[in-house]
Amino acid sequence: MNDKITFTITRRKLTEILMGLIALFFAGGILASILKYLWPQSAAKGENAQIKIANVDEVPTGSVRKFMFNGKAAILLHMPAGFRAFGSVCTHLGCIAYWKPEENIVFCPCHLGKFDPNTGAVISGPPPSPLPAIDIVVKEGAVYALKWKDPGYVKTISFYAGAV
Ligand code: FES
Repeated sequence: MNDKITFTITRRKLTEILMGLIALFFAGGILASILKYLWPQSAAKGENAQIKIANVDEVPTGSVRKFMFNGKAAILLHMPAGFRAFGSVCTHLGCIAYWKPEENIVFCPCHLGKFDPNTGAVISGPPPSPLPAIDIVVKEGAVYALKWKDPGYVKTISFYAGAV
C-alpha cells in the first residue's frame, strides 16, 4: 500500500502562483491604505479620550501649562475668567505659540502672530485662523482635556503644520 501523495508543479505554474501572491500583497497594501484613510487610526484609539492636564492648584490664575493632546502641542491657560485650552501650533506655518503674560497674548515668535488667550482668535500677524480650541472640564481638583472643539479644523491645521 502506497500512502504517498505526489504532485508535480511546473515552473510556469510556480511563477504564476508567485506572481499571484505578489499581486495579492500589493492589493492588500492598497486596501489597507484606503481603510486607514476612511477610518483613521487615531479615531480607533479614541482620539478624543479624556486626559488629565494638571491639578487645579498647579496652574494658578495667570499661569499656563503646556501639554500634548492627540500628539499635538497644546496649552492650558488659567485666565481670570477661567481655564482655556488651545492647540499651540500656529495656524500660519506651524511654529509653537506660547503664553506671553506681559502682553496678555499667546504669541508665535516665527512671524509675530498674536492670539487672544481667552478665545484663541487672531489679534494680529499673518495667522489665517484662530488657535484650535480644546474642550476641557474641571472635576475633582483637576483639569481634563476632552476633545477638539472642531476636529475637522484641527485636521486642516495638521495638514499645514505637518507632524507636530
Ligand atoms: S508660524 Fe506663527 S506667525 Fe508664522
